[in-house]
Amino acid sequence: MEPGFDFGMIGIGVMGSNLLLNMADHGFAVIGFDLKQERADKLEAAAKKGQVVKGTTRVEEMVASLKKPRKIMMLVPAGKPVDSVIENLLPHLEKDDIVIDGGNSHYKDTIQRINYLQNKGIHFFGMGVSGGELGARLGPSMMPGGDKEAYQYLKPILEAIAAKADGEPCVAYMGNNAAGHYVKMVHNGIEYAMMQMISEVYDLLHRGGGLTNQALHSIFKKWNEGQLHSYLIEITAEVFKTQDDETEDPSDFLIDHILDQAGSKGTGKWTSQDAMDLPVAIPTIDMAVAMRDLSVYKEQRVRAAKLYNSSVNKIEITQNDLGHLENALAFCFAIAYAQGLSMLAKASDELNMNIPLPDVIKVWKAGCIIRSALLGNFTEAFRKDPKLPNLLLDDEIAELLKNREESIRQVLEIGIKSKIPMAGMMSALSYYDAYLSDRMPTNLIQAQRDFFGAHTYQRIDKKGVFHTEWYVEGE
Ligand code: 6PG
Repeated sequence: MEPGFDFGMIGIGVMGSNLLLNMADHGFAVIGFDLKQERADKLEAAAKKGQVVKGTTRVEEMVASLKKPRKIMMLVPAGKPVDSVIENLLPHLEKDDIVIDGGNSHYKDTIQRINYLQNKGIHFFGMGVSGGELGARLGPSMMPGGDKEAYQYLKPILEAIAAKADGEPCVAYMGNNAAGHYVKMVHNGIEYAMMQMISEVYDLLHRGGGLTNQALHSIFKKWNEGQLHSYLIEITAEVFKTQDDETEDPSDFLIDHILDQAGSKGTGKWTSQDAMDLPVAIPTIDMAVAMRDLSVYKEQRVRAAKLYNSSVNKIEITQNDLGHLENALAFCFAIAYAQGLSMLAKASDELNMNIPLPDVIKVWKAGCIIRSALLGNFTEAFRKDPKLPNLLLDDEIAELLKNREESIRQVLEIGIKSKIPMAGMMSALSYYDAYLSDRMPTNLIQAQRDFFGAHTYQRIDKKGVFHTEWYVEGE
């Protein structure tokens, strides 16, 4: 076959096909490889008249039909499948070809793959792709990282198919090495935190306040029109109005039939693990991971509920409370973004990835799961200081948070009184309170460390490292 295709895809399930069809909509000639003939046929059948879309079950055919430098993306499950695809591809590739891993791979695996392929003259890109199946078709948010020069070849295609926010494409070069997968990992950490805190508000309104699904739908729908405007609030409103089609009863909603055990594929956990290695504090993301983990212990929770005869204290939710909840959630979302972005700021330096924070905001503004109106407030903060170590240090963000501080305290009081666990939101407020403390109680921790382990401490009034022979009663 003549090399006339612009882009090749390995793995043409729904995501892979949708990305290719999106490219075809923008005039690119695309080819997809899959071991399953029916997938190759389905891809071709989905093309519109005049578009150049081909499916094949022969990887060598796909590679041979691509223009050079070849641009090949793989969308296969993270882990071993990525390595085996690379090995199958390698014999057919040439120097300067570009291979993109568009899955949720661990960034450390991506670093190894970059190094491995660099020796063979191949450019390997780790690229976070967010927005699910629909996003892939209509405009995803994409976070590519790797060799900057090679990115120039990808840029026109990726910019054409990306979601657009304020007329700008939601794709940008995220930095060298595995920066793309790193940014996507942190995106997912923030996603976990936002989802956790939305679920806490749901719990307070539903189990605590006794609100119906219809009422919840209206509240979230209204919130989505204001400061909380975001993809996650939007889909939450939709969830509450979805009826259960297993029953005839129109008042039976699907949400009430879903088992309360959260799944996870690991990206939230990786964010927490890596934050602790850096180290950087992202307690709200940690708590979101922990709460998903706790949810899995359903049997123990049922036993404990019986043992403690526990029940929530019913509360009445007023219009005023709803206003506080809306503000509190906006406060907590901002804190979750602040934690994730502070992690990126630190990792950018520590891991030499050179992540452009203003571009991260741009890329997250549309197409991805954590897109929200709040992100609009951060553009200016990073324009003023592209290396801002923490959003909380920006004066406009400070105003945004201060204006909502009273609300988060009110909401948590209600949570505590009604016995609704609000661990994510509490962690957000505690992070805020700690970050704003010019003196933390860690002087005591230093004293204790020195007491039992002679770990030494520093003083505030003179330089040096000190140790004290602490008095032990009775010795
Ligand atoms: C996205 C999502 C996507 C995936 C999550 C789910 O940006 O489109 O983040 O990548 O839905 O990885 O993660 P869990 O299964 O761990 O919740």
